[in-house]
Amino acid sequence: MKWETRLHFSAALLATATLAVLPLLGSALGLARLLALPASLAGWLASRTVELVTGYAALVLVAAAMSLSLRLRTRMPLPYPRGSARAIHMVLGTLPLAAVYLHTCGNWGVHLNRALLNCFLLAVFVALTGKLAENGLLRRLAALACTARGERSAATVAAALAAKLAAQAPLSAAPGVAARRVEVQRLAGLERQLRAVWPRLHLLLVAAMLVLVAFHVLGVYFYP
Ligand code: HEM
Ligand code: HEM
Repeated sequence: MKWETRLHFSAALLATATLAVLPLLGSALGLARLLALPASLAGWLASRTVELVTGYAALVLVAAAMSLSLRLRTRMPLPYPRGSARAIHMVLGTLPLAAVYLHTCGNWGVHLNRALLNCFLLAVFVALTGKLAENGLLRRLAALACTARGERSAATVAAALAAKLAAQAPLSAAPGVAARRVEVQRLAGLERQLRAVWPRLHLLLVAAMLVLVAFHVLGVYFYP
């Protein structure tokens, strides 16, 4: 079973991301004093050199996550195993949260900085919650259709169920089977809708984030 289709894998990533973002959220909600970093550490992190280092570190991690999508789409010789490219992408995509927290010292920023941070966080959370919901649906579908857990799509689960019922003709007449089939169709429809929305939204937010990062970096050098 592929890692990225395991429910607990995406749940663990979402929990990690939520924990990583709590201090940032806390300071945005005015709990800064409660969650503040020690003054000496915050002062050091806010120095220009360290801000540049943490900013570029976040950008390198974002670029590494993006290189995984190249791995999925092209035959470019990249040093990642093809089978686990999505799972590695999900882990690498979550890591910049830590770098960004150190980079911002827990400040949400203003104007374009704020827009950048919002886009970045939304891109990560849309992907994590989308994947978690998708995996939950696939797991439920697989249980209903009694197929191996971890099927890659609802269509394959529905096809597996249809093939099973065709092979066991008396089963398809058994009470409850028709209801199960209807439920499988309903969940498969839901999964299709989910897949039609979250990856596009994820990609859109990543694209917006890249534009904002470009302005952010230009701003740092031209309007220091
Ligand atoms: C800032 C970090 C991230 C960046 C820059 C990023 C970037 C991208 C890009 C460019 C794609 C499009 C790939 C394509 O269509 O060829 C993509 C797809 C994807 N991303 Fe991310 N991503 C990030 C974080 C995450 C996280 C945290 C997850 C965790 C769930 C994730 C899960 C996915 C998945 C599963 C796909 C494939 C969607 C599909 O099946 O069509 N990404 N990402
Ligand atoms: C994922 C990428 C990035 C995100 C989400 C991000 C986000 C932010 C945010 C929200 C702030 C404002 C913090 C505050 O008000 O205290 C900030 C400041 C800063 N960033 Fe970034 N940043 C990123 C990448 C970079 C990169 C690549 C550089 C390198 C040039 C950089 C350099 C700086 C500097 C020097 C500051 C302090 C000056 C200022 O407030 O404009 N950042 N960043």
